[in-house]
Amino acid sequence: MFKLSASFVALVALIPFAAGQAQEWGQCGGIGWTGPTTCVAGTTCQVQNAYFSNCFPGAPIPPVSTPAGGAPSPSATGLNALAQSKGKLYLGSATDNPELTDAAYVKILSDNTMFGQITPGNSMKWDATEPSRGQFTWTGADQIANLAQANGQLLRGHNCVWYSQLPSWVSSGNFDSATLTSIIQTHCSTLVGRYKGEVYSWDVVNEPFNDDGTWRSDVFYNTLGTDYVNITLQAARAADPAAKLYINDYNIEGPSAKTTSMMNLVKSLKAANVPLDGIGLQGHFIIGGVPQGIEDTLRAFTALGIEVAITELDIRMDVPATPAALAQQSQDYQTVISACQAVEGCVGVTIWDYTDKYSWVPQTFPGEGAACPWDQNFVKKAAFYGIVSGFNS
Ligand code: XIL
Repeated sequence: MFKLSASFVALVALIPFAAGQAQEWGQCGGIGWTGPTTCVAGTTCQVQNAYFSNCFPGAPIPPVSTPAGGAPSPSATGLNALAQSKGKLYLGSATDNPELTDAAYVKILSDNTMFGQITPGNSMKWDATEPSRGQFTWTGADQIANLAQANGQLLRGHNCVWYSQLPSWVSSGNFDSATLTSIIQTHCSTLVGRYKGEVYSWDVVNEPFNDDGTWRSDVFYNTLGTDYVNITLQAARAADPAAKLYINDYNIEGPSAKTTSMMNLVKSLKAANVPLDGIGLQGHFIIGGVPQGIEDTLRAFTALGIEVAITELDIRMDVPATPAALAQQSQDYQTVISACQAVEGCVGVTIWDYTDKYSWVPQTFPGEGAACPWDQNFVKKAAFYGIVSGFNS
C-alpha cells in the first residue's frame, strides 16, 4: 500500500508560505498541483487521493483511501488507458452532434487513450432516427458512428425503445398490439442493422421501470404488456448478432425496489431464453448521494449471468460549486469507479459527457450542474483524479 497520509501532510505543512495559503476546503496538494500547499489557521491539509488534498476544518482525520501499488505516474492520465491496464474494456464519454463543431472539445474526446468508447447522447433516439413512420434519418447518428470508427473507439448504441424522445406518431398512434409490434420490430431492426458490426453494445430498452419497481406506463407497456421487452431484444439480436444487448435504467445502482424488479426481469428473460447480455446502470448521482452497496449490486447483477456497465455517469451539485462540493464529488467518482473496478463483470464506465460545458444537467435540473470531471474550460477537476484513484484502488 502506498502511504501518503501523515508524512505527506507533515511535508506539505513544512513548505513555506510562498504560494499563499489555501482557504477552508480549498486544494492544498496532490500530484501536479502547483498552488498553495498550506491551509489557513483552523484547517488541516487532508489527502483525499494521490492527486487531490484539501483543507478540512479542524485537526487531521485519517485519509479515506490511498492507491494500491504506489501513486500512478502523472503522465499516465489517459483514463481509458488506465481502465484498460486495470482489465476494463473501456472508459468512455457520451457526446452529441452540436458540440462536435467545438475543436477544443473534439480534440479531447477523440484521444482514445482518454476515451475508448463514445455514446451518442441523442442522435440514435427514436425522434432523431424515425421522426415519421418509415422515414429514417441518419445524419446525426452516422456522424457519431463515423467519429468512433475514425478514433478507434467502441460505440454504444442508445437506444431502441424508450418512453421519452419518442415521436407522437408512436406514442399517440392508438395502434393495436400487432401493429405496434411490427412498428417496434421495424424501428429496432433498421436502427441496429444500420450499425451492424460497429456497435459494442446497445441499450435496447431504456428505463422500463418506475422508482417503486412497477412497470412504467407508456405506449409500449400499455399496449403489449411486458412482451415489448422480448419483442425488442429479439429484433435487435436478429439485426446484429454480435452486439451485446442491454437494458438500461437509473436508480438501480444500490438496493431498491427498482433494482429488485430489474433483477427479476433479468431472471425471467434468461429463463425464457430471450437474448440479453447486460444491464446498464446509468449512474446519474448527486454529490454525497452515491448509494451504499453499489459494488454488491453490480456483483449481484453479474451473478445472474450477464455483464454490467455504468452507462451515464455524472455527479451533480448545487451551483455555483464550492471547494467542499468539488472535493465530495471527487470522492464520489472514486467510489463509483472503484466499485466497477472491483467487479470483474463490470466491463466499463461511460461519463454522460466529460465536460460541464456540454452536460445535460443544468437544463434538466435547474440550479444544479458542475457534474462532469472537466470544467467548462476543459480543465480537469478533482473529480478527474477521483476517477484515477478509483481505478487504482
Ligand atoms: C439526455 C440528453 O443528454 C439530453 O441532451 C436530452 O435533452 C435528454 O436526454 N437518461 C438517458 C439519456 O437514458 O438518454 C438522457 O439523455 C439522460 C437520462
